[in-house]
Amino acid sequence: MLTLTDLTTTGGDGNGKTVDGHRLILDCVARIAEESGLKAYLVGGPVRDRLLGVVAADLDITVVGDAMMVAERLAAEIQGRLTVHQRFGTATVVAGSLAIDLVTARREAYPSPGALPIVEPGGIADDLARRDFTINAMAMPLPAVSDQLVDPHDGSADLTAGLIRVLHDGSFRDDPTRILRAVRYAARFGFAIERETADLMGNALSARTLSALSGDRLRHELERTFHERDPVAPLQLADNHEILSAIHPALTARHLPAATREPVAPLAWLAALVWPLDAEEGEALSARLNAPSDWARVIADTARIRRSSPALGDASKPSEVCSLLDGMAPAALRGALIMGRGPAQERISSYLSHWWSVAPRLRGHDLLALGVPAGPEMGATLRELRRARLDGETHSVQDEQELARQWVQAPDKTAN
Ligand code: CTP
Repeated sequence: MLTLTDLTTTGGDGNGKTVDGHRLILDCVARIAEESGLKAYLVGGPVRDRLLGVVAADLDITVVGDAMMVAERLAAEIQGRLTVHQRFGTATVVAGSLAIDLVTARREAYPSPGALPIVEPGGIADDLARRDFTINAMAMPLPAVSDQLVDPHDGSADLTAGLIRVLHDGSFRDDPTRILRAVRYAARFGFAIERETADLMGNALSARTLSALSGDRLRHELERTFHERDPVAPLQLADNHEILSAIHPALTARHLPAATREPVAPLAWLAALVWPLDAEEGEALSARLNAPSDWARVIADTARIRRSSPALGDASKPSEVCSLLDGMAPAALRGALIMGRGPAQERISSYLSHWWSVAPRLRGHDLLALGVPAGPEMGATLRELRRARLDGETHSVQDEQELARQWVQAPDKTAN
């Protein structure tokens, strides 16, 4: 059975410096709260992670009382940067690479499924009762001097058993993002979704609960999935539970490889996920996710790249590859590489590692000096010089000067 012994002195991953840093900050929060007659707790993810022996990336603190005041004093004492989110009654203090989130303990009421909750101040029990899963609904009173753990929902037992369990039947209806969060945590920790919770999730999906969710909130959860160490696992789990098809009927994870060789940027995972979608489906997905321009571009370019795949595979010259891929979002290109190593992928790989950056050796002013007029002709000549260099027809500045001179004398030879 896991206990809280030495929670603040060992992190279990050998990262002693981080743990010491966390401990200093927690001690500081405890002192500030005590001096103000308030009670402060470490809550949620960091408690879960410490019980698992993992050092949490961030610290989440709940204050029974005025968290803003504690945040202001903490920022001043540790010389951190304070950001106050008035609307949510939360504050973040950033010190170096560590973010400390402080929130006033609160109870929540959900006016309608998928909507943001109405909040009012509450006690620590209220604050834990509003949370998503039992393993995220534990608190550690500060200062952490003993094995005290506030665990009214038996989160530590579920942590030991490896179970993701909601706190009440209405949880997914209150907050449909929890549907995606459940598979994310299950995949990250190798846990099972407890049977009743899985049933509730299935019911919520059948009731089309996800459609009540705004595009922004849905996209934000997907983004968090792409930031996981191994996004394929939660995406496949989401597919198995028919969560992806509830977002868009064409969305699946079946085409994703079991493992990738190297770390991949989050937006490349988006590209990998939308690989099977055609342009129209991609547009519908972008609309559903209220996609900002970078997401929309990756989704649209992925459809273009997939459509170009046969031509890419057949391309025999680097310049042909460039004319198919120039202007595509790099994340879309990287996403295509996640899909394995066919002839198209080989060309994309060469493009990303080299061809995209190939430019003519001569610049505009060199061409002006050779008699190429400014304007469209200049553009066409530069493009043609790039093409010649890409395809190995020129090897030096002299070769390019020679070509440019020929074209000046016989301009119709400058193709396109
Ligand atoms: N939470 C919740 N329901 C949500 C989002 C968050 O109940 N839809 C609660 C959980 O208790 C969670 C805490 O708020 O632990 C903080 O949320 P977040 O930062 O998303 O979770 P972490 O547990 O810190 O997750 P991660 O390890 O992915 O950062």
